[in-house]
Amino acid sequence: MRLRLAILPILLSVSLVVAAAFSSRWQQVPENDHSRPNPLAGTPQTVAAGALVYRDHCLQCHRTNAEGDGHKRPSLRSDGIRSASDGDIEWFLRQGDLGHGMPSWSSLSEAQRWQVISWLRSIQ
Ligand code: HEC
Repeated sequence: MRLRLAILPILLSVSLVVAAAFSSRWQQVPENDHSRPNPLAGTPQTVAAGALVYRDHCLQCHRTNAEGDGHKRPSLRSDGIRSASDGDIEWFLRQGDLGHGMPSWSSLSEAQRWQVISWLRSIQ
């Protein structure tokens, strides 16, 4: 009995670590952000503006047509991006993930973030 009680917290922490490793980044997005619609979605002007934002700020890492570098800088034409909501991506662009080499894009205007998301949608 004593032994079983001692094992319990170990099992619990192992399962937490495993859950954290497998939970996708999109599951961490706050509900309000997750459900925010792209206010600029759907117009050709927005997509064209987004292509320029991409060229100026994202291309250097995510490469031509957002195909990624095949290494640490991921393709943005992936099931992960397709399954994320526009709000999820906007949230992630504001946060970045500097520890893994993705800068925060809170310095762009909010309109620019929605524009680049519209462009990403257009090439999925
Ligand atoms: C300095 C290199 C660099 C630049 C510039 C950059 N990124 Fe990233 N980006 C990364 C890296 C590295 C990752 C992977 C981070 C991770 O694994 O947590 C990433 C991840 C992402 C993801 C998440 C991908 C996924 O499947 O979860 C998105 C979306 C993204 N970037 C969009 C952009 C956009 C849009 C821009 C331009 C505004 C941009 N990035 C500019 C390096 C960069």
